[in-house]
Amino acid sequence: PAPGWSESADVVVVGSGVAGLTAALRCAAAGLRTVVVTKASLDEGSTRWAQGGIAAALGDGDTPEQHLEDTLVAGAGLCDRDAVRTLVTEGPDAVRRLIATGARFDTSAATGAIALTREGGHHRSRIAHAGGDATGAEVSRALVAAVRERGIPTVRNALVLDLLTDGAGRTAGVTLHVMGEGQHDGVGAVHAPAVVLATGGMGQVFSATTNPSVSTGDGVALALRAGAEVSDLEFVQFHPTVLFLGADAEGQQPLVSEAVRGEGAHLVDAGGVRFMTGQHELGELAPRDIVAKAITRRMQEQGAEHMYLDARHFGAAMWERRFPTILAACRAHGIDPVTEPVPVAPAAHYASGGVRTDRRGRTTVPGLYACGEVACTGVHGANRLASNSLLEGLVYAERIADDIAALHAEGALRARVPAPTAPPEPAEHPLLAPEARFAVQRIMTEGAGVLRSAASLERAAARLGQLDEDARNAFREHGKTAEPGVDSWEATNLLCVARVLVAAARERSETRGCHWRLDHPERDDTGWRRHIVVTLNPDRG
Ligand code: SIN
Repeated sequence: PAPGWSESADVVVVGSGVAGLTAALRCAAAGLRTVVVTKASLDEGSTRWAQGGIAAALGDGDTPEQHLEDTLVAGAGLCDRDAVRTLVTEGPDAVRRLIATGARFDTSAATGAIALTREGGHHRSRIAHAGGDATGAEVSRALVAAVRERGIPTVRNALVLDLLTDGAGRTAGVTLHVMGEGQHDGVGAVHAPAVVLATGGMGQVFSATTNPSVSTGDGVALALRAGAEVSDLEFVQFHPTVLFLGADAEGQQPLVSEAVRGEGAHLVDAGGVRFMTGQHELGELAPRDIVAKAITRRMQEQGAEHMYLDARHFGAAMWERRFPTILAACRAHGIDPVTEPVPVAPAAHYASGGVRTDRRGRTTVPGLYACGEVACTGVHGANRLASNSLLEGLVYAERIADDIAALHAEGALRARVPAPTAPPEPAEHPLLAPEARFAVQRIMTEGAGVLRSAASLERAAARLGQLDEDARNAFREHGKTAEPGVDSWEATNLLCVARVLVAAARERSETRGCHWRLDHPERDDTGWRRHIVVTLNPDRG
């Protein structure tokens, strides 16, 4: 759509989680005119739901090298070692800077040092946490307060639509659809020679997810339409322990943090048997993909809809002090973890892949950057290590801000005039009706969930293709597509990322990390120690 209003800046940051706000604060501190745009309110994204914490080698005896080793093992042979090294070596100072910005982490009563716990795949206690199990909420609070204090301009309720480029294909800004923000209502544009995508994940492509409703893959869809490379989309991480609220539960589901296992909770079946024992040297604290698979296998063997997490031995005082958020969520659903085991099952949690970047956060489109869950920096490989996501958001957002500031200082980032773009041809690229969101979710849950096979993925691909075809036919018959609006654009973005995800999952004929193919149950290092990198025609192909 043609923009009705416009603003300009040196850099526009799209998204307001840990990655977006960290990038914005550092860009603004470097003197860059920075605008943050966010789809809902500043604290609406995934960051505030993060429970366990931030992993960093902050403890006595821990080193970045050990953190690197654990990250590489979890990533199942597909991590970029240099990207991980950057993460783990710059991570501890990035956390200290976050503390200087105002985030308050839990400390040990005895020593006053930051309290550290364990999670799956970590051989040491290295997870810093806040408010017991409300780490993301505290990180979000501190960053939002800092952005407000420094007066960084923000545009809320702004769904990003497409990248604007100049005649040479360089970034010139973004178009946005804004609702209820006065002078900024309707479709408009922020012109800037640098755009930082920090739009978060795409968990909403599945019916049940730990992600909030805003996680609809908008950044990946934008990047695909802009011709940027996207990588590793098949590696969707399913969190092993999500509160089970029924087999047909839909939308955002309450997480039961790995930190609960880190503090000694047991995974048991309905008969009380601890089935992780003997499966992995770390038992219940094995990497997340291994635990999710073991739970799924046990559920299949026993015809059960869920397993249980048993932490009755914590007692009421520990539950209240250490896991107040989870305790409240369980009790709100009629389950008391102090007196009964908690029913849990895996649900979609994190996109390990995304928009491909280098270690400066640059994508393959000049001037377009990506950080946080929307990005594929190479640190997660085939399966992200627990609590590396907030850390990645921090570290790579800082690197992006430094890169933009350096380019700006060299005079290499001048305002660019967007080339006129033809609106997408509705007969070829129809906007989906809002209800299509639920169809996409059901198709993906049935065909591309924890367990996948050539047959299930082929069915999913055909059904997703049919949704697109139906929308085109509707246009041909009635001469119009769905009304433009946040819901229809979100549904269209979900279909776009779902189709690329399924295509990658079909292509990867092996089991690796969080990609589990029933028809190819082994890891194939000869054929598949490589990434699936996708680009679409920038002309909206
Ligand atoms: C959790 O608290 O279990 C989630 C941590 C993560 O996803 O890294």
